[in-house]
Amino acid sequence: MRQNLAEVILACAGCVVVAVVVRPVDDQAVAAPGAQRCPERGEDDERDDYRCEHFDVLWLRVRVPTLSSIEGPPATEQCDFGHSYRAAGVSERFPIAVLVSGTGTNLQALLDSVHGREVDVVAVASSAHGAQALERARARDIPAEVFARGAYADRAARDGALADWLQERGARMIVLAGYMELLGASFLARFPGAVINVHPSLLPAFPGLAAVEQALAYGVKVFGVTVHFVDEGVDSGPVILQGALELPDARTPEEVLAALRPLEHSLLPRAVVLVARGELVPDERNPRRMIAGRPSEG
Ligand code: GRF
Repeated sequence: MRQNLAEVILACAGCVVVAVVVRPVDDQAVAAPGAQRCPERGEDDERDDYRCEHFDVLWLRVRVPTLSSIEGPPATEQCDFGHSYRAAGVSERFPIAVLVSGTGTNLQALLDSVHGREVDVVAVASSAHGAQALERARARDIPAEVFARGAYADRAARDGALADWLQERGARMIVLAGYMELLGASFLARFPGAVINVHPSLLPAFPGLAAVEQALAYGVKVFGVTVHFVDEGVDSGPVILQGALELPDARTPEEVLAALRPLEHSLLPRAVVLVARGELVPDERNPRRMIAGRPSEG
């Protein structure tokens, strides 16, 4: 038992923690009582507030299949999103909303990886009736609503109604996941520094609509995905995460998009967690360059 606990802690070094007692339970959280503060932050870190300040129980969520062996996916993967720090029975997960227009595979990736763990998806809003993403939300009992531009006098009116609805549901971060509408300055001001988007190109190349079609027409050999903060421009906010794929023989948007999907579904949840934790800071020498890590590590 001691050896297994040590293996867990060592394997998770860098993303976890201190544990006092581990009670192995298949695929569910195990508790280690006694921790008084978040182990990822210093006591002088004012941004501990939403997750760590009042907790007297530290939760180490890790899959421990048996008492005698630790098997399954690499522990580093488990640690990416598999741990939370909160008191039993207290939901302090960071509330996010997801804006969609279509299929919603990125929404599904969020629901499957970080919803109920690091964050709570508290609302899903679609610009289009009949979007499959709405069904994905309702299947998880998440409030889902349509804000079609045609139903409002203008975009500002739509943005206002949308922001009201999202704030009424407590959303503190807005994730655009295939949302095919622009959001105005008044909307962004309601969620300052907390609106992010996933885009299927290596920005600043090929912003806007039909990014993959643009890239194919240009004849690129390397495609990619960018998760970025949203500003008033078109796909022009600071980059959070990027990933690239060499596809030298790609010919159709469909094959490129299919290849990019897993990258999107990995990068977007990672970016959401970084923003929710407040672990992104601008580089002092270049404020557009976001640094992932503890603020004190600058
Ligand atoms: C993704 O390719 C994303 O990069 C872009 O819109 C698409 C949404 O796909 N912004 P889905 O609705 O999440 O499946």
